[in-house]
Amino acid sequence: MGGAMAFTWRLTKRRMAPALFSRCHATLIVGGSKTEKEAATTTSILGPDLPDIWSPLPTSLPRPMPMPPVNHAAPPTIIDGKSIAEEIRSEISADVLHLKSSYGKVPGLAVILVGQRRDSQSYVRYKIKACNQVGIRSLLAQLPDSCSEDEVVDSVTRFNQDPSVHGILVQLPLPQHMDEERILGAISLQKDVDGFHPLNVGNLALRGRQPLFIPCAAKACLQLLLRHQIDLMGKHAVVIGRSKVVGLPTSLLLQRHHATVSIVHAFTHRPEEITREADIVISAAGVANLVRGSWLKRGSVVIDVGTNPIEDPDSEHGYRLTGDVHFDEAVKVASAITPVPGGVGPVTIAMLLSNTLDAAKEAFRSSV
Ligand code: GUN
Repeated sequence: MGGAMAFTWRLTKRRMAPALFSRCHATLIVGGSKTEKEAATTTSILGPDLPDIWSPLPTSLPRPMPMPPVNHAAPPTIIDGKSIAEEIRSEISADVLHLKSSYGKVPGLAVILVGQRRDSQSYVRYKIKACNQVGIRSLLAQLPDSCSEDEVVDSVTRFNQDPSVHGILVQLPLPQHMDEERILGAISLQKDVDGFHPLNVGNLALRGRQPLFIPCAAKACLQLLLRHQIDLMGKHAVVIGRSKVVGLPTSLLLQRHHATVSIVHAFTHRPEEITREADIVISAAGVANLVRGSWLKRGSVVIDVGTNPIEDPDSEHGYRLTGDVHFDEAVKVASAITPVPGGVGPVTIAMLLSNTLDAAKEAFRSSV
C-alpha cells in the first residue's frame, strides 16, 4: 500500500466484553434477501409515514406516549447522552457477539480521513474507539490534504468491493478542492452508514419511501427525544441549521414523526421569535451560545447539537467545547436540555455503530 497516494491503512483491534455474553438479540434471517423497505424497518426509530389525509390522529398509527404537563417548579431534566449511548452500545455489543458466536460473522466499518484537521482527527478517533468497544472491526484510510479527488473515490471504490467492509464513512468536511457530492455519491448505497447518499436523503424526504440509512446525528436527536418519552406528534419543532449532516435530515425525520417543523437558518428574519414558539428546539448552527434563554418558550425541550471550540486557558488543551445554546440561561427556562459535551455527541457515534450493524446484518442475509 501507499506509494504516491501516501495511504495509511490501519486495522484496529477488536475487543469483546465478556459480561456481554449473556445478552443476544440478533437473529440472522437465512434465505432470500430482504427488500429495501423491509431492511429499513430494522431501524427502530424510523417513524411511520404520514398518511395522505389531514386527520391529526389517524387511528391506524400507534399513539405516542403523551408529553406530561410541564411542571414549571420542577428542575429541568438534563438529558444524559453518555448513559443513553452506553445503553445502546451494550445492545449493539450483544448483537455483534451473537453474530460472531453463532455465524462467525464480524461487522466492519471503513473510515476515510482526508487531511490533518484536528477536530476531524479526534472525531475519527472516537468512532474507531467506539467500534472497538462493541466488537466492530474498523479500517482507517488516511490521505493527505494534497491528494486528488480521484484518489479518494478510488479508496471508496476499494471499500465498496471489500466484502469484509459493511459500512463506509468519509469524514467531513473534505478539503475545499474536492467535490463532496461526487465522493459521497460513490459510496455503495448498501454501505452508506452516514446516510448522505442522495438516494438515502431522497428516500428520507419522500412519503412512502424508506431510506436504508438515516444520518447519525438526526437519529441521535430522535433517540434522545423518544427515550425521554417526548411526544412529537403535532408539536412545533424548530431546527436551527439546514446542513446535510444535521439540520436537513433532522427536520425530515421530525416530520416523519408528525412534528410541525420550522427551519431557522442564517437568512431567517427574527430567528429568536420563531424559536420562542417552539415546543422542541434542535440547534445545529455551529455558533457558540447563539440560543439565549430569551429565545426559548418556558417548558420547551432543547437538544443542542453544536460542538464549538472556544478558548479556555484553564482547560487542558487551551480550549473547550461549547454548544449552540447558552446552557446556563436555557436551563432556567427549558423542561429538558442536553448538555455539551455529553449530550448528542456520544449518541451520534452509537448511531453510527447501529447503522454499521444494520448494514452488516443485511449483507449477511443477502449472502446466504
Ligand atoms: N463531520 C461531522 N459530523 C460528521 C458525520 O456525522 N459524518 C461524517 N462523515 N462527517 C462528519
